[in-house]
Amino acid sequence: MLIAEIDKYGALVTERDEPLEWEKVHISSCAKIGYLMALFRDVDPDMAACACACHDFGRIVTGKQKGHAEAGYEPVKAFLKKTELFSEEEIEQIAIAVKNHSSKSEVGGPIEEIVKDADVLDFDQYGTELPREEQKRRLRRIEGVLADMKKAGFVL
Ligand SMILES: [Fe+2]
Repeated sequence: MLIAEIDKYGALVTERDEPLEWEKVHISSCAKIGYLMALFRDVDPDMAACACACHDFGRIVTGKQKGHAEAGYEPVKAFLKKTELFSEEEIEQIAIAVKNHSSKSEVGGPIEEIVKDADVLDFDQYGTELPREEQKRRLRRIEGVLADMKKAGFVL
């Protein structure tokens, strides 16, 4: 359903800061990273993966990078409701993670934190330079967590 939604907005908004191919690759690898992080942190992995998959929904809808986290809040709630897969509480939890994911220096709830960590790690793993200092700081902070995950048998 998410891929269909991306394609729908892809046809509606043709001027984009990021190509749709990147959006699809990034959300799918973030979802995988988030799923494993959630297992390691004792967080619901399906919720974490869904939040990671939806985190750039605002950019999908508007095509714009600027303000895309906040722009995703209401549209992602409407989308998640339409799927009939989530409770009201789960929808709010995912939507909050979407809304706050660009604030990489602030610490949010467990799902929000996984989204932020998976986002910077995914960027880094594709060899993309993280433009903001708060992103670099977060990446450095999770390097220790990654070492612990590797020791426990989780390979990212
Ligand atoms: Fe984002």
